[in-house]
Amino acid sequence: MIALAELGWEVSGIDITDKAIVAARALFARHGVRGELAVADATKWVPPQRYDLVTNTFALPATREAQAQVFATARAALAPGGTLLLKDFDPSMRAQHPAFEHYHLPSVEELVADFGELEIVRAEVVETPIHDHARKHVQGEPRWTAAFLHARRAGR
Ligand SMILES: C[S@@+](CC[C@H](N)C(=O)[O-])C[C@H]1O[C@@H](n2cnc3c(N)ncnc32)[C@H](O)[C@@H]1O
Repeated sequence: MIALAELGWEVSGIDITDKAIVAARALFARHGVRGELAVADATKWVPPQRYDLVTNTFALPATREAQAQVFATARAALAPGGTLLLKDFDPSMRAQHPAFEHYHLPSVEELVADFGELEIVRAEVVETPIHDHARKHVQGEPRWTAAFLHARRAGR
């Protein structure tokens, strides 16, 4: 978001925790850029406008039902001609980290089916860097993977 704001985009972001928004506001200030940042729950948030780019990375809730609500929010936020980028841990990660036992991890196929009305530009499993805080839970240097979706809404 910082990089986009530096390029002149008008950016908006939400997070369910006050802590994340306070940190994001500080980061925006440090970079001298502006952003519309608010505490909100993506499962319920009603977008005040439509956006040319909607993105959610590693921020999906735990259950399939709650994820469907976030996807509905993303759909409502996406402008005609807009781009959707989604990335989150894929089902193969269940074997890699104990915390994932209680999470619904979406597969690429599931994301493609969930956004079947959009033009799918790219949908694949991608390698993703291991988070520092997770290293203590894993052995060696495992390969972490995520389901990635790049889709586009028709229009304009
Ligand atoms: C692992 S961090 C990901 C941060 C960043 N997007 C990234 O890719 O590194 C997940 C963030 O999603 C937020 N989050 C989880 N569920 C949410 C929800 N329902 N609505 C809004 N934010 C949520 C958490 O508070 C947390 O700040």
